[in-house]
Amino acid sequence: MCGIVGYVGHQAALPVVVEALRRMEYRGYDSSGVAVLDGAGATRVEKKEGKLANLEAALDAAGRGSFAGTTGIGHTRWATHGRPSDRNAHPHVSGEVAIVHNGIIENFAPLRHELEAAGVDLVSDTDSEVAAHLLARAMDDGPTAGDFVASCRAVLNRLEGAFTLVFSHADHPDTLVAARRSTPLVLGVGEDEMFLGSDVAAFIDHTRDAVELGQDTVVVMRADGYEITDFAGEPAEGRPFRIDWDLEAAEKGGYDFFMLKEIAEQPDAVADTLLGHFHDGRIVLDEQRISDQELRDVDKVFIVACGSAYHSGLVAKYAIEHWTRLPCEVEIASEFRYRDPVLDRSTLVVAISQSGETADTLEAVRHAKSQKARVLAVCNTNGSQIPRESDAVLYTHAGPEIGVASTKAYLAQITANYLVGLALAQARGTKYPDEVASEFRQLEKMPELIQRVVDSLEPVRAIARELADSKSVLFLGRHVGYPTALEGALKLKELAYMHAEGFPAGELKHGPIALIEDGLPVFVVMPPIEGRGVLHSKLVSNIQEIKARGARTIVIAEEGDDVVRPLSDYFIPIPTSTTLLQPLLATIPYQAFAAEVAAARGYDVDKPRNLAKSVTVE
Ligand code: M6R
Repeated sequence: MCGIVGYVGHQAALPVVVEALRRMEYRGYDSSGVAVLDGAGATRVEKKEGKLANLEAALDAAGRGSFAGTTGIGHTRWATHGRPSDRNAHPHVSGEVAIVHNGIIENFAPLRHELEAAGVDLVSDTDSEVAAHLLARAMDDGPTAGDFVASCRAVLNRLEGAFTLVFSHADHPDTLVAARRSTPLVLGVGEDEMFLGSDVAAFIDHTRDAVELGQDTVVVMRADGYEITDFAGEPAEGRPFRIDWDLEAAEKGGYDFFMLKEIAEQPDAVADTLLGHFHDGRIVLDEQRISDQELRDVDKVFIVACGSAYHSGLVAKYAIEHWTRLPCEVEIASEFRYRDPVLDRSTLVVAISQSGETADTLEAVRHAKSQKARVLAVCNTNGSQIPRESDAVLYTHAGPEIGVASTKAYLAQITANYLVGLALAQARGTKYPDEVASEFRQLEKMPELIQRVVDSLEPVRAIARELADSKSVLFLGRHVGYPTALEGALKLKELAYMHAEGFPAGELKHGPIALIEDGLPVFVVMPPIEGRGVLHSKLVSNIQEIKARGARTIVIAEEGDDVVRPLSDYFIPIPTSTTLLQPLLATIPYQAFAAEVAAARGYDVDKPRNLAKSVTVE
């Protein structure tokens, strides 16, 4: 999730682009860069690893006045392919061409080989750079030579994956060409000036007139106008709209809190995490420094993590054991190394962390490595410490998560953990290739179902407002519904400062049932109809037990679950999925519930008291 900006107009481009990058920094801050076209056939580029402040210092050192020109592009990076560095920062340049990119070019590997075979020297580790070289070559030679717009389209038609791209060419300084497939891009329409941004916050200071670009569209923009087509060059429509947000609202996409925006981004977080991980019928990880033979030799899996990441590991245990027939233990990272776990060369330790900096998880990784275990990191932050010290990495592509409470990163972790499970099953041969493919296809269907849940949260918020004064709330589930219950309780504790507990529903009768009193809200996640057999009927009994003692039941269940509906004081329907994938849906109402209770109580949803986004102390 990088931030992209562009400007063509009558003002000096550099200050406009840098200001826009400041507004886009929430989308990524691994590096940033600008390119300004001087109008006389040259492009001046500056890019720097780290926060925008580093780029600004470099611009100062170079002399901002030397970046003359009224056309420019800019980028703030959330690293995916290639670690954060000056070299991997955008814009990427090839001859007269400069490009910025957000997304993942899934077929970059064959394109890279093709370019290398043709003698092109690629200088970065990114997937993005291929687009710059392809464009430079299309401009030099072949059917579109010399035609900037046609060459851009020719390149776009060769790319697979999800991308927003902005192309510039020093010999065409009055024109920018941009395109989008799946990742966002908005056009800002000013007086004799045009803007591009990943969202409207990029140009809200300059114009309130914007155009939303449709899927698979190309926009050619000049100071005095723009033209939208599809990738084939046929006319296409954008959706013009007027921005009525203030700047703060614009940065939060119109939501009151980043967390709410991040809840809404979950379909993309899951879809992006899956992108590029299934090639030629095989699951592929990002940085695999563990050989297939070593994966085959694994005889035990430990998952180590903290907080929500730990809950995502608990969910993964069900899939990993089921698919690989390997024993899988899930440990709270801060406990792991102090109890002398049995580890050796055949142990695979999966360390899950959004930030990649959590001290407890990092120390667990170091302990595992000191015992010769293999460590695979599942992480949202490219270049952070945990992936750096691990033997293999699978990145989640949730983009920066600003709300302290984990939402989109959590769903992305569950998704990535499933990919780890499938990669293991594939290496060990415990699943046939067609079974692996079929599980992956199931995962691919999830973003659409997640979107349906995200779109139907209003009744959950109404329940939250009604229950906002409760003293305590319980969460119950069985199988993968149990970690989902733990996650629901954690969200409520951290955001609403409310007593909340998650239990395996069957454990209730062994003690916690004593907590049930008249009116106590109890959430229950019902297994999908697929699992109706034993799990479903046992949960129905559990609900009857708590209802008999006066609890108010709030039940999350499949739309068609008419057995449980009459037992529910509040019924929250979710779409049908497989049992293993249900946490990707059932968790979302819990996130929305906790955020709404916190807001109703007047708390800062994004910055709960006593907490930090990255916990870098043990
Ligand atoms: O960055 P990490 O994933 O390693 O962070 C782990 C926990 O600190 C984190 O999940 C925390 O529990 C969240 N605030 C939960 O919403």
